[in-house]
Amino acid sequence: MSNEEIFKKYIKKLYWLTTIFSSLFIVTGGLLVFYSVNPSFFNFKKETTVNTVSVEEDDYDKIENGIHVRTGLIEAEGLTAVVNNCTNCHSAKLVIQNRMNKERWNSTIRWMQETQNLWDLGKNQEIIVNYLITNYPPLEVGRRATLSNIDWYELNN
Ligand code: HEC
Repeated sequence: MSNEEIFKKYIKKLYWLTTIFSSLFIVTGGLLVFYSVNPSFFNFKKETTVNTVSVEEDDYDKIENGIHVRTGLIEAEGLTAVVNNCTNCHSAKLVIQNRMNKERWNSTIRWMQETQNLWDLGKNQEIIVNYLITNYPPLEVGRRATLSNIDWYELNN
């Protein structure tokens, strides 16, 4: 191989190396510019997951016409505490259909704690019981309204 041939070979190599590095440089630069304009484009996978989760969560605790759709409970102060503590073991229907006063709710809760592994509710107990007696007050079934405006008369024997 003559000196000239070796020289040509090096020039050729240099030419390719330069071409490859320039291309890489341009592509990387382009990507960097693109990334700085629109960073979320590159983590599209992560973003779809985030979207799915937030949509599911929206539906999960959806309120429609004042009713918490998933459980059927009335939306009011204390709803979250009731949903989180009272719908894990049985349906919320069991809670809704039992209308009790404060004392009976507290003793039902105590009964569940003693026999059904219900946990200590802490300060949530008052919130839950208040929610229940406010939104599902005891029904006075079978009791007629007190009589009023009665014209009493004397019996004449
Ligand atoms: C650890 C599980 C568990 C949790 C949490 C729980 N319960 Fe219960 N509860 C039960 C079981 C078990 C029964 C009996 C179910 C049956 O008889 O079919 C029951 C029964 C009831 C009953 C019916 C009682 C009766 O006399 O028939 C009511 C009302 C009730 N629960 C309300 C609640 C409320 C309110 C909460 C939230 C503070 C709650 N439960 C949380 C386990 C639980």
